[in-house]
Amino acid sequence: MNGDTINIALVGCGTVGGGVAHVLLAHADRVARRAGRPLALRRVVVNDPAKPRDPLIPREIISTDIEAAIRDPNVHIVVELVGGLGVAKKVVLDSLAAGKHVVTANKALLADAGAEVFEAARKAERTVCFEAAVAGGVPVIRALGESLAANQVTAIQAILNGTSNFILTAMAEHGMSYSRALAEAQRLGYAEADPTLDVDGSDAAHKLAILAQISFGVAAKPHEIARQGIDTIDAMDIRFANELGYTIKLLAEAWTGGHTHSTNGAKLSRGGAASAAHANGGPPTVALHVAPVLLRHTDLLAQVRGAYNAVLVYGDIVGETLYQGPGAGQMPTASSVVADLIDLGVGRAQRTFAAAKLWSREGRGFTVEPPERVRSRFYLRLQVVDKPGVLADITRILADEEISISSLVQHEAEEDGAGGPVPLVIVTHYAATGKFRKALERINALSTTAAPAVFFSMGD
Ligand code: HSE
Repeated sequence: MNGDTINIALVGCGTVGGGVAHVLLAHADRVARRAGRPLALRRVVVNDPAKPRDPLIPREIISTDIEAAIRDPNVHIVVELVGGLGVAKKVVLDSLAAGKHVVTANKALLADAGAEVFEAARKAERTVCFEAAVAGGVPVIRALGESLAANQVTAIQAILNGTSNFILTAMAEHGMSYSRALAEAQRLGYAEADPTLDVDGSDAAHKLAILAQISFGVAAKPHEIARQGIDTIDAMDIRFANELGYTIKLLAEAWTGGHTHSTNGAKLSRGGAASAAHANGGPPTVALHVAPVLLRHTDLLAQVRGAYNAVLVYGDIVGETLYQGPGAGQMPTASSVVADLIDLGVGRAQRTFAAAKLWSREGRGFTVEPPERVRSRFYLRLQVVDKPGVLADITRILADEEISISSLVQHEAEEDGAGGPVPLVIVTHYAATGKFRKALERINALSTTAAPAVFFSMGD
């Protein structure tokens, strides 16, 4: 340990902030050895100073004064753990303007205002670190930005929301109800302050936008990432998927044109429409979406359980690599925040940040593929009246849109001749999302369709 002490202000001391404070105070010697200098927690800014805190935090460093923390000339790094877009954005921009480096776990802020935040950092010649913003304790930002730097990533398939994965695992393995599983995820500190962001796919979309910026240089706006949450999944879908040999996972996926990969021995090409545009001399494109996807039970991502996250990255040089670990929760996220602080202490982060030019105009030429052009197989569950001609009407509509059926499941109704409605599950061959949606509209309009169709992509 040879450098000067680096002083830290922590703004926000909830679940993650409490973990960061604890690691800095309980493991000060280890952190100092790794950083080559002491990292001292000098200020902790909170909303409610009366709330009980980790006993290691000295009372006198706790205050409610954000401005004083940001303006303190002795503070070198501000850690923003407020979350959201309002106060958090101001804390980050004001800290940079005041000459502080910033460490943040705020995926919503980077997805929404990455260009503005990074421009401000470059202007102030300061660094923004955000390992904790994606996949909690899994070091995927470093993997993509540093360890895989020799590659062009061609696709990413990831479980990026611990809460959703926790809920799906609890429903599939323990038959737990959706609402009980969500309450449990909240109790364990995995969920966002507003858990709607977890279950409707928004949180995973924010994280995917960050990974897409690092991997493809695209600054995807929220509306460019097609998004479907787990709130549309019924226990019945989990059972049908299981019967067909599949597990349902909420996946965040990015596919460049022409990407192919091999799963279970089969060569696959999802997102394939993009390859044609690129082959014709157009710019390379990347399709981005967050959606429940049916994965074969044997797929690596199908086996990721509980609040764990996993990121499968396909690189043109390395091939396929997988990063897995706790994606939510106090200590896993604190582990990534403190790693960023250590990197700033060493001086590595400043150099990497300057070289990466993230959210700058020097993109890598990728544009976002319109969601309707993405090709996939689909799982489709209908509630239909059980009478002659119903299936014929549905298969005619699918045929009109050039969609071929791969398999079909209808269980016998308990009382023969009762007329339904009964669930009918269809798995299709590859189809363009746009055509599939057109077919859905027509199927939903049939008088024999008793409830809006439920559909998910297939992972193979
Ligand atoms: N709510 C998030 C999750 C926490 O469940 O994954 C980490 O961003």
